[in-house]
Amino acid sequence: MTHPADAALPHPVAELHLHIEGTLEPETIFELAARNAMTLPYADLADLRTRYEFTDLQSFLDLYYANMSTLRTRADFTEMTWRYLVRAHRGGVRHTEVFVDPQAHTERGIAVGDVLGGVQDALDRAAAELDVTSGIIVCVLRHLPASQALPMLDGALASGVPLLGIGLDSSEVGFPPGAFREAFDAAAAAGLHRVAHAGEEGPPAYIWEALDVLGVERIDHGVRCLEDAALVERLARDQVPLTVCPTSNVRLRVVDRMADHPLPRMLDAGLMVTVNSDDPAYFGGYVDDNYAALRHDLGMPDDALRALALNSVRASFASPDRKAELLAALGL
Ligand code: ADE
Ligand code: ZN
Repeated sequence: MTHPADAALPHPVAELHLHIEGTLEPETIFELAARNAMTLPYADLADLRTRYEFTDLQSFLDLYYANMSTLRTRADFTEMTWRYLVRAHRGGVRHTEVFVDPQAHTERGIAVGDVLGGVQDALDRAAAELDVTSGIIVCVLRHLPASQALPMLDGALASGVPLLGIGLDSSEVGFPPGAFREAFDAAAAAGLHRVAHAGEEGPPAYIWEALDVLGVERIDHGVRCLEDAALVERLARDQVPLTVCPTSNVRLRVVDRMADHPLPRMLDAGLMVTVNSDDPAYFGGYVDDNYAALRHDLGMPDDALRALALNSVRASFASPDRKAELLAALGL
């Protein structure tokens, strides 16, 4: 939803939790299907749109994986990524770290170089034309066998496309982070940053494990940390960034209503919180819409929103020079 006062939202911001395949808008899904001569299981756009009511993470993931099968060529990945970048730029994003799910494409026979190269082509164009800096974080799909994680990383590294980090995503409950240690150790040895989804639907124990076994620098979501006082103390002490996605949490029923979102309580607890969109094409909100929702539904004042924008830049893996530039633009 857009609100009249949104023009004054903080700018610039960094987006640190964004699945590039989650930016595939319904119109783009139909365009890609047409150009790849694919038949979709939807009568038309309106029919597809009726499917965007989710009951939990898995109900969303089922549609997310089905729709990404329309991505077939390197140019398809570039087109999807460029459309996201133009929209994100309009919302004030000047640095973005995009998650890519290579296994979701290679298991369909798409070359990893086409996936990552296609995304990177658009990121390069955005650096040149939009002043948006960026990087790719390849994510391990945790619902697939853990033995596939290291081959995924090796393939991504061998593609020659520069990687910023490794992440962990997909169905959370029943798939604890510790199983993926080997790939995360290898990523660290290759100089990559490490992040993981934890504490979205899964218990606080998964957050501990992501920190202590995988050695992650940031936790994606992490909202369930509030159930464990010792964990909150640890996260606050170490100022571990949490990439929170308010609209996603409402749409996937992690919280009932935006007005009930725990983000203000997380800030009160001294946590290093950032605001992100997750899968904006599915949840109806890009990062600026998420900031607007905090203002309108949680009554967060402008200085609190600006503090969140500052956190996003500080918690990013941008270069020190780029961070200084973006912080200066935010008035620091
Ligand atoms: N993949 C895309 N969006 C995700 C989410 N919110 N949680 C876990 N995996 C995802
Ligand atoms: Zn996510």
